[in-house]
Amino acid sequence: MTTAQAQRTGPTASAGAGVPTPTPSSPPPSSVPGARQAPTTREPDHGGPGGAGGSDPASGWKHRHLLGLQELSADDIRAALRTARSFADISTRSIKKVPALRGKVVANLFFEESTRTRVSFTLAAQRLSADVVDLGSSSSVSKGETIEDTAHNIEAMGVDALVVRHKLSGAAALIARNVSCAVINAGDGRHEHPTQGLLDAYTLAEATGRLDSLDFAGLRVAIVGDIANSRVARSNIAALSTLGAEVVCIGPPTLAPRSLESLAPGKVRVEWDLDAALPTVDAVNMLRIQFERHVVDPSEAKGPGAGPAKSSPAFPSLREYVQMYGLTPERAAKMRPTAVVMHPGPINRGVELAGDVADGSRSVILKQVANGLSVRMAALFLCVAAG
Ligand code: CP
Repeated sequence: MTTAQAQRTGPTASAGAGVPTPTPSSPPPSSVPGARQAPTTREPDHGGPGGAGGSDPASGWKHRHLLGLQELSADDIRAALRTARSFADISTRSIKKVPALRGKVVANLFFEESTRTRVSFTLAAQRLSADVVDLGSSSSVSKGETIEDTAHNIEAMGVDALVVRHKLSGAAALIARNVSCAVINAGDGRHEHPTQGLLDAYTLAEATGRLDSLDFAGLRVAIVGDIANSRVARSNIAALSTLGAEVVCIGPPTLAPRSLESLAPGKVRVEWDLDAALPTVDAVNMLRIQFERHVVDPSEAKGPGAGPAKSSPAFPSLREYVQMYGLTPERAAKMRPTAVVMHPGPINRGVELAGDVADGSRSVILKQVANGLSVRMAALFLCVAAG
């Protein structure tokens, strides 16, 4: 089913610190079904993400799974972002639902904690009229069942898509090799978090007036913090560099090693001086320190409810880290007037990002969250109906 068909169809429609982690495995919006229209004309027709007519934003998408952005072309990424844009206005309707995936079943397999991604995928599936099953820490994996067996069993019940989050890089790809339904990676270890990369690209395009072109040539984006341990950084680097932006990775050398430049040669630079870089960028994407991935001795791992760890072998002290790499109001004042502050969440306020900056006028953090819904609708639609 094309996006256009989905829209026209009525209610009867049917991936170790310091190194890049190994890889496991356009039409104008006004003519696109689902494109924004004047609010006064937006009473829902329940027929899809928008009115009929125009080219299909999903045209050309051929992927059954969404496992990472490193393997996607610029055309693929633009198809995903245009499809997301075509779905965006559904969230503003009084009835936030279209029948694009009616009769389909989406299973969330979250073997690691999540607030944003899990809720976002659930809402996205529901807005496309799919049935949703939530499974994760309550699965029989805790009794020793392999994740392949879990996936086989879920698929045997007629599931059309598995949305997988796991602490191990390659978990989603492993499942994809074992099932015939669509698999979407919702974050695997240090490897990738492709829908986060897409929603960050979408938000950057929106903030810089590039939603029509989706061409990031001339943009400079800083990713700051624990890049070595970040799947978000890898997906961002892939999306931003593929669309033409220059990416500057900033952090202490233990967390922003020079080897990151090999992820997109000529498009990624590693710098260690945040204050020098800030006035030169159009956006900063602040990353949380992934303390849970710094643990040397497993006995040091904190249990649930123990609160975030506060020390790491990657830097001398948290205080020093904040002094050098925390985005304080004073530092944010050095940014270009139009530059924006991003963060994938969850934020450790007062560490990588001061509360006043997170809540300030430059922040597009909640826009990222809102855009995540459209992006995940697009991911589900593309993989289930168009892939
Ligand atoms: N950004 C992100 O993945 O957040 P969650 O861990 O809450 O899903």
